[in-house]
Amino acid sequence: MSRIAYVNGRYLPRNEAEVPVEDRGYQFADGVYEVCEVRGGRPVDERRHMARLDRSLGELRIARPMSQAALAVVLRETIRRNRVRDGIVYVQVTRGVARRDFPFPSADTRPTLVVTARSSPVEQLEDVAAQGIAVVTVPDIRWKRVDIKSVSLLPNVLAKQAAREQGAREAWLVDTQGRVTEGASSNAWIVSRDGKLITHPIGQDILSGITRSVVIDAVKAQGIPFEERAFTVEEAYSAREAFITSASQTVLPVVTINGRPVGNGAPGLIATGLRRDYHRYAEISE
Ligand code: PDD
Repeated sequence: MSRIAYVNGRYLPRNEAEVPVEDRGYQFADGVYEVCEVRGGRPVDERRHMARLDRSLGELRIARPMSQAALAVVLRETIRRNRVRDGIVYVQVTRGVARRDFPFPSADTRPTLVVTARSSPVEQLEDVAAQGIAVVTVPDIRWKRVDIKSVSLLPNVLAKQAAREQGAREAWLVDTQGRVTEGASSNAWIVSRDGKLITHPIGQDILSGITRSVVIDAVKAQGIPFEERAFTVEEAYSAREAFITSASQTVLPVVTINGRPVGNGAPGLIATGLRRDYHRYAEISE
């Protein structure tokens, strides 16, 4: 089946879907994006993802391409035309097309809106979750506003490649004080020796993950001891459990960090439980 992409008002076969070379997304990575899980053909946690998109746009002073209601229609239509039941829908907004010059282009420049959707192999991801994943650590060399979900992802690309070259699925980014900020495309969590769930606090140095926020709701509802603070790589080595969260993978247990087993080297009970229960706490739209 040919895949369909939405580009500035048109639904096009993917291989005909194009953006001009002078798009500021291409020239400067001057744009933002969202990845939203799709389940049963419906967007998951859409309200929170759209609120974060709006915030990212606002922080960078990029114009909203259309109303929230209109964008909700485009998301659904893109999901439908690609016949996605379980997978993701991707939304990208850039500052638009203009002659290459660093400052913002004229105020009448229209932002570029692209929406794509694709299915994910659900069983394959369940197998990965059942086995648990390997992570490696790399220095966090990103800019100081990673709370904005910008398409400027070069450090994340390099971190993921380093992970892949070491046989790991994710890279954990480590600040100059030896503390884990987050994953290259996920938030990072541990369960400490004394059974406390720990993840880095929200600020300009991590992305405020939507999956993270839903997991926090679940953790609070279930009365699991929880602390929002940075943890070090050393602390993670001696943790009882570790896991990552992201929209495309929900909760994935981590079983090794830099080749060292976490806990007994198998997916932990808390991570496994949070993965199983995730969609009870998530908001699944019509
Ligand atoms: N990544 N931190 C980073 C750096 C991310 O790129 C992501 C998401 C997250 C998790 O956020 P959320 O729970 O809202 O997906 C944390 C998406 C999935 C991606 O780039 O593909």
